[in-house]
Amino acid sequence: MPSRLETDPSASSPAALRGMHTLPGPPGLPIFGNMLQAEPMRFHQTAERWSERYGNLFRIKMGNKQVLVVADAEVIGRVLRDRPAPFGRGVRLRQIAAEMGITGLFTANTEVWQRQRPMVMSAFAPNNIRRYFPALVAVTQRLETRWRRAARAGTAIDLQADLMRYTVDVTAGLAFGAAMNTLESDDNVIQQHLNAIFPMVGQRLLAPLPYWRWFKLARDRSLDRHLVEVHRAVAGFIDAARARLRADPERLENPDNLIEAMIAARDAPGSALTDQDVAGNVLTMLLAGEDTTANTLAWLLHLLSDQPAVREQLHAESARVLGPESVATEFALAGALTFAEACTHEAMRLKPVAPFLLLEAYEDAEVAGIRVPRGAMVMLLTRRAATDGRNFAEPLRFHPERWLEDEELSGRSSAPKRASMPFGGGPRLCPGRYLALLEIKMVVSMLFRNFEIDSVATADGSPVEERLPFTMEPVGLRMKLRERAQSVPPPG
Ligand code: HEM
Repeated sequence: MPSRLETDPSASSPAALRGMHTLPGPPGLPIFGNMLQAEPMRFHQTAERWSERYGNLFRIKMGNKQVLVVADAEVIGRVLRDRPAPFGRGVRLRQIAAEMGITGLFTANTEVWQRQRPMVMSAFAPNNIRRYFPALVAVTQRLETRWRRAARAGTAIDLQADLMRYTVDVTAGLAFGAAMNTLESDDNVIQQHLNAIFPMVGQRLLAPLPYWRWFKLARDRSLDRHLVEVHRAVAGFIDAARARLRADPERLENPDNLIEAMIAARDAPGSALTDQDVAGNVLTMLLAGEDTTANTLAWLLHLLSDQPAVREQLHAESARVLGPESVATEFALAGALTFAEACTHEAMRLKPVAPFLLLEAYEDAEVAGIRVPRGAMVMLLTRRAATDGRNFAEPLRFHPERWLEDEELSGRSSAPKRASMPFGGGPRLCPGRYLALLEIKMVVSMLFRNFEIDSVATADGSPVEERLPFTMEPVGLRMKLRERAQSVPPPG
């Protein structure tokens, strides 16, 4: 029996199911299908243009793989909710990631995922994040110091690079208990090696043949060198955590963070977890927590660059909530930054770092009355759904207030808001979302409390391009800041 995800009641009998070949879609080439028609780094934009032409349900072919493309929010929500089966991450992604030693929760198949998900979820639960909060404050203060120095020197900030230092320092602190400080280091930081991984995953995903298994080009050899450094760092985190557990065996019962919880689970009698599971998840957290949050922040600051009134509101909110402090020093304060959070939701609606999700049918399935055979892919165009005029008025306008409208008073349901799914949905919804939102609010409130933004733009002032090495990033953003006159008011 195919798993069923129909929206159309007439699709209830298997005879009523339509094959994917009956759907419209761009004509393709023999062997390659539509694979060569999209520039890999801009695949999302091509798919979105196809959707303008062929609608909310169409088909493409990537090599010999059939792909059902969905741009309707309700159908996307159903596909996501119906996991862990019949849809999971693509087998090809799993293989490519495994070859690089990335065998964590993100790429896990259903069985492994079921084992690992609760452990990861508890590490990112709000209570754990609350306990980690003082360290988050310290990392935010380091970013403030770095940006103060740049403002005083009048130098332009390489926005993504600085934000990635921030997000890696935070993830390593929360998930691995490691006091990492790349924000205050100008040496060979781990980000340089991490940054080499995603573009190669993206390239290999779209390569017509897995040539690297037979011979290596210069870029593959360079990747191998970066992987050696990254795995060395991962082994360092694990060794340090093992040393802490040896020194204080009680932590095995009450692990302090994700890495300790994973080692405790790995060492428990009869455990099915392996050393590789632990290492793979450490690397997964580093990768999943770095680009996503940093790029979301970079997009948000870019969108704000032509919104002076919104910037003023952000300044007013952070001055009110932070009071005399230059960063939010109490967990509860972050909860009061409601306008900063609304701006974040709006940025993620327009510039989601995952503008689509790509899943594979692990068994015969059905989506909206279409038969999806085992092995076929389903591409969920989440940004198309989030910018659909049926779900949001003036869908392309940056309008954060839409996230603050009182639904009960206005009598409108929140269903349209659910059409924006930047963190995915259903059982595999992003476990890092609380942390990510908190990091973003910490940075935004620190920034608007202490600085005025002179500019957030490319070096030559050309329009900012969207590039998709794996997560969608803005290319080449530089930020210039000025310190606010009364940055930190005198006490009293
Ligand atoms: C703004 C920041 C972030 C965005 C937009 C984001 C987005 C996403 C998306 C779209 C997914 C796929 C969800 C699905 O399949 O339904 C995902 C999964 C995941 N994310 Fe995030 N993420 C962010 C931050 C983080 C952080 C900070 C971490 C951890 C440090 C993290 C860890 C993960 C993991 C482990 C998964 C796999 C979950 C699973 O398959 O069960 N993410 N994220």
